[in-house]
Amino acid sequence: MLDFTVSLPYDKRLADCDIRGSLAHVEMLSETGIISAEEASVIINGLKKVKQELTNGSFPFDTGFEDIHMNIEKRLTEIIGPLGGKLHTARSRNDQVALDMHLYMKEEIAHIDSLLVRLQETFIGLAERYIDLLVPGYTHLQRAQPVLMAHHMMAYFWMLQRDRGRLQGAFKSANLMPLGAGAMAGTGFPIDRQMVADKLGFAKLYENSIDAVSDRDYVIEFLSFSSILIMHLSRLCEELVMWNSAEFGFIELDDAYTTGSSMMPQKKNPDVAELIRGKTGRIYGSLFAMLTVMKGLPLAYNKDMQEDKEGLFDTIDTLKALLPLLAEMLQTMTVDRVRLAAAVDDDYLCATDIADYLVRRGVAFRDSHHIVGAMIAGCRDRGIRLRELDSAGRGCYHPALAEDISALLDPASVAEARTSRGGTATRAVKDQIGLAKKEL
Ligand code: ARG
Repeated sequence: MLDFTVSLPYDKRLADCDIRGSLAHVEMLSETGIISAEEASVIINGLKKVKQELTNGSFPFDTGFEDIHMNIEKRLTEIIGPLGGKLHTARSRNDQVALDMHLYMKEEIAHIDSLLVRLQETFIGLAERYIDLLVPGYTHLQRAQPVLMAHHMMAYFWMLQRDRGRLQGAFKSANLMPLGAGAMAGTGFPIDRQMVADKLGFAKLYENSIDAVSDRDYVIEFLSFSSILIMHLSRLCEELVMWNSAEFGFIELDDAYTTGSSMMPQKKNPDVAELIRGKTGRIYGSLFAMLTVMKGLPLAYNKDMQEDKEGLFDTIDTLKALLPLLAEMLQTMTVDRVRLAAAVDDDYLCATDIADYLVRRGVAFRDSHHIVGAMIAGCRDRGIRLRELDSAGRGCYHPALAEDISALLDPASVAEARTSRGGTATRAVKDQIGLAKKEL
């Protein structure tokens, strides 16, 4: 039975939060006169000794006591005697574990947010480094229009900015103080919940004791933030894998983030990018596990809720491992300017601009789209570029096309023409970078 129900192997990591929560609780018990100041000071010193043991590695973890909360209380009682039993006055493990989880989440969220900021700064750095570099923009994985590499990189900045908004939402939900809910109905002792919240830096209290011990929304919100984030990062990594392939050859990932094949000496596998893409599975899995654990639970606490921990901890560890690696991999990748120049040299990418040119000459866009489509199909059939078609050849499609349109066929001018807000012209991208820095 104990082997099946024990959570100590993984909830150990809540030890520090458990001690912080207990210290605030015992101070409040004393300040409200529920226990005496002398008793409180003995308990506080005992808790500090326990903390020392946890820090220096001498704490005697005992799986005979199912979780970290029972382990700490048992060790406290060994150190200070039966008085240790007073620590749990006006408290249940149900509100205690909720408090620990809230404290833990707030800390981890702040840390992960700082890693996201570093990744955003990386994208800004890349955008500044590649402000003059054209890459093909794609739709349907078909070359669509030339864009600045800076513009492409900044798309990820904004995705991360929304991710951070969702993370702040999870933080707000974790910033509620549950202690004082007791097992589920509150307590008859004259506790001061606001005092505990103030000591621990919580913004608000749970206003319903049943809700306080039943709620795992903050865990689910964090996992859903994580799922959307890893979906974004997986898309990025997919692009890195493709761009790093011989078929694209746009970038080369640094050797530090690739591995050789055990059999084929020519290989440089983009393992880090692939593995980040692959981590999506376990993070989505944890979100689904938690949604499923909670869906049929009657109020209030149920032991099922102990299942909130492993998937959450795994997700936190996964993000903390991959975010710095990804930033380093991006900073150290190099671009192949020759391959990229060749890729954007495809003047079919200028089709939209030629269609727009006809629109300015009074042709309806639907008609101009058709005309330019026919001209490109004609070139494709003959195996030539647009610029190889002479004035008379173009004039067959529309008289206005017989004029000199060479300026329209240069990928750089095509990109520079897109001056709309949020567009790919250098000026617009610089404005975008400026805004991004301001938001950061
Ligand atoms: N280890 C438990 C958990 O993580 C702590 C709360 C246990 N409460 C109880 N009444 N059994 O959920």
